[in-house]
Amino acid sequence: MIINGPNLNLLGTREPDIYGSLSLNEFLDTVKEKYPTVEIFHFQSNIEGELISKIQEVGFSFDGIILNAAAYTHTSVGIGDAVKAVKTPVVEVHISNTYAREEFRHQSYIAPNAKGVILGFGLQSYELAIQSFLND
Ligand code: DQA
Repeated sequence: MIINGPNLNLLGTREPDIYGSLSLNEFLDTVKEKYPTVEIFHFQSNIEGELISKIQEVGFSFDGIILNAAAYTHTSVGIGDAVKAVKTPVVEVHISNTYAREEFRHQSYIAPNAKGVILGFGLQSYELAIQSFLND
């Protein structure tokens, strides 16, 4: 399950110099084509509680969660707690290298409870996360 947080629905038009010019749907289509044997689900929300509910919903039955909580990464104790509460391993991903950006993006409430973190590889970060589950 790929879970994307706030403003990631604007991929393709939002700051394309940082996040690229591919839309979320275009990107998901290419990933699904590349991994035809993997069941890939996607959920995006701009609302913190909806992200928490989705993590809880899938977090006891799915094989893996790929989570880009976007700005909530740096603020949400609630999402961090949800990641800690579930059984499904969570890989935190970011499109940009958050450590090369503003100081407030260096903090993650998810990382301490994530299986791992992949960031800075553009949209390829998601693919690397998929591969990490497949190589397990
Ligand atoms: C992001 C990085 C966050 O700091 C930012 O708020 C985002 C996207 C990324 O994928 O690079 O919205 O998670």
